[in-house]
Amino acid sequence: MDANTRFDLTGKVIVVTGGNGLLGSAYCQALAEHGAHVVVADLPGAHPQQAAKELSQRTGRPALGLSCDVAVEADVVALFEQALKEFGRVDGVMNNAAATGEHLMRQGAVFSPFEDYPLAVWEAVLRVNLTGVFLVAREGGKALLKSGGGSMVNVSSTYGVVGPDHRIYEGMKFASFPGYSASKAGVHGLTRWLATYWGDKGIRVNTLVPGGVENQHDPEFVKRYAQRTPLRRMARREDMVGMVVYLMSDAAAYATGQQYFVDGGWTAV
Ligand SMILES: NC(=O)c1ccc[n+]([C@@H]2O[C@H](COP(=O)([O-])OP(=O)(O)OC[C@H]3O[C@@H](n4cnc5c(N)ncnc54)[C@H](O)[C@@H]3O)[C@@H](O)[C@H]2O)c1
Repeated sequence: MDANTRFDLTGKVIVVTGGNGLLGSAYCQALAEHGAHVVVADLPGAHPQQAAKELSQRTGRPALGLSCDVAVEADVVALFEQALKEFGRVDGVMNNAAATGEHLMRQGAVFSPFEDYPLAVWEAVLRVNLTGVFLVAREGGKALLKSGGGSMVNVSSTYGVVGPDHRIYEGMKFASFPGYSASKAGVHGLTRWLATYWGDKGIRVNTLVPGGVENQHDPEFVKRYAQRTPLRRMARREDMVGMVVYLMSDAAAYATGQQYFVDGGWTAV
């Protein structure tokens, strides 16, 4: 197989949760451009059906949009049933959906001081970011087994690995929050557990560790983040897609149980 063919995703069916978010939409576009049939899964309010229709129009590849709340077991079961029904197989699972700061800002309590942190908010974050990842891994893994194996990528964050530098959030309307770090750290453990559990079944499981992606942040925050980063800038959406294409492709056939950092060197400091 030549080098280009190893990165080719033609005909691979890949399910992307949170598929119409900032990064999810970039993953769907790149995966379809590399030949994949993409299932865009997202909350109904994120309009995954419309996103899939537009993706298919732009790339000429079949794409399916499905509403799914990853925190709801029945939704996740239905997601993979429908993906199998439509395409007959699943080759890749991008376990990407998460309750991120952007969404949670609407519930101001997510940034409460830790000493008064509401239990309900902690549990709500873990429900999506860790239990949701578990449900997608369980149901997605079954679909991969039925298809003879494949690739699963669970998404963490630098904050699942190192503590935030709280100083860069001083004076900002947003901050890092504890359930995010705790749930993302859990993603690394689940990945390693699944990689060794499914190693002999042809399912590779890896963790993607993105650094902070610029998204209309306060310029002062962007400046502070850039100063703290060896590559001297925040990430762009397109910085993440090469790693995702690689991990979903046969080029990564011997890669499992690992953490793939795309963070501009943030965790090297
Ligand atoms: N953007 C960053 O700076 C950054 C950095 C590190 C890690 N990440 C991780 O990358 C992933 C994607 O983040 P993003 O920046 O695209 O965020 P985003 O908020 O733009 O996208 C998240 C997507 O997940 C969806 N979602 C939220 N709750 C859901 C649920 N219960 N069920 C199904 N879908 C749900 C949202 O509708 C949205 O489309 C997340 O796992 C995030 O933690 C992002």
